Amino acid sequence: MQMIGRASIAILPAAPGRVRSRDVEYPYRQDSDFFYLTGFAEPEAIAVLAPGRQKGEYLLFCRERDATRETWDGARAGPERAVTDYGADDAFPVSDVDEILPGLIERSERVYYTMGANPEFDARLIGWVTALRSRGSPGTHTPDEFVALDHMLHDLRLYKSRAEIACMRRAAAVAVNAHLRAMAVCRPGLHEYEIEAEFLHEFRRNGMRPSYLPIVGSGPNACILHYSANARQMQEGELLLVDAGCEFDCYASDVTRTYPVGGRFSPAQRAIYDIVLEAHGAALKAVRPGNHWNDPHDAAVRVISRGLRRLGLLKGSVAAIIRARQYREFFMHRTGHWLGMDVHDVGDYKVGDQWRLLEPGMTLTIEPGIYIAPGSRGVGRRWQGIGVRIEDDVLVTREGAEVLTGGLPRKAEEIEALVGVGS
Ligand code: GLY
Ligand code: MN
Ligand code: MN
Repeated sequence: MQMIGRASIAILPAAPGRVRSRDVEYPYRQDSDFFYLTGFAEPEAIAVLAPGRQKGEYLLFCRERDATRETWDGARAGPERAVTDYGADDAFPVSDVDEILPGLIERSERVYYTMGANPEFDARLIGWVTALRSRGSPGTHTPDEFVALDHMLHDLRLYKSRAEIACMRRAAAVAVNAHLRAMAVCRPGLHEYEIEAEFLHEFRRNGMRPSYLPIVGSGPNACILHYSANARQMQEGELLLVDAGCEFDCYASDVTRTYPVGGRFSPAQRAIYDIVLEAHGAALKAVRPGNHWNDPHDAAVRVISRGLRRLGLLKGSVAAIIRARQYREFFMHRTGHWLGMDVHDVGDYKVGDQWRLLEPGMTLTIEPGIYIAPGSRGVGRRWQGIGVRIEDDVLVTREGAEVLTGGLPRKAEEIEALVGVGS
């Protein structure tokens, strides 16, 4: 509220519910920006920040209590508990918003709102402003400025508070246990979905849900970056790439491990694995305050380019491979992204045309990979169909970095020792 000032208001709608098919809905997930400011998990709500308003500066519009609806759909806080339990200064039934919000808009010079993310609400807001204008009576005022709220809010979200980091630790810890559990049951003959089931079980028994569709790709599927069919039967001699994380109180983990289905890497798989592991280590070392966003990626690119050249998979000098970005044939994504309430979290990666400096409290993933799709031209058969990614969740600290998912082994021998021990 300090940032927007007393002449402004900010308006944030809750996420709408979404239909999966006919009258069945997807599990409801609150809008991250809305939840960041309110902690309020119900749909059909609107938060208004009005720092100049005498009678209370944080308003929450929400569904009224309704015995019949609550019998069908579950409990609602109602405006009363919006004040007592959620800290609103003032709360109103959301059905009254048309009577109340236009007056607040009229008294403001600036309206902060994220346009373009919620078309239905965009139309309502435009409707309120249009109605104010068309009144046209002397003394009716409409705001001078409409300002994008997301830029300011997303910069706040980029720096995690202690409470937020605690949530991320919990999401990370459960993802680590789920990966350990999946490694333990993994064996040839199982289907990818049986591995996925281990994750869902571990997430749900901790009250969490996946933070994205789990990727369980065996053999050639490991080379499909967003594979999520998870339908194939796994064979001896193949690698399994599992990218799965969960969400605690709207804070995500995002973790990948790659291991041999039968518990032993082949020499070719091991050669690729060790390059990715070395790239992961080099990238991790580059995560510290004062380094910039792209330093970990540059470090990973160097190791991967050097490694692929050593194996004969890329030709020419390392400098030329990097300059011409030849490594992108096998490493086609970036080494990480911000992580937080969203898996690919908000926050700018550049300030102007400069990469952003890393600062304590930022959280990101480190996830180098090498993918050699079957049928890659000019590539020996023994390399084809190998896909490896190693992904961890990292907090920038004052001293350097803390790996939130560091409890999950990464070294090839450690992983081999874990695969299949419980099957
Ligand atoms: N699971 C998506 C990612 O790793 O970015
Ligand atoms: Mn990721
Ligand atoms: Mn991932």
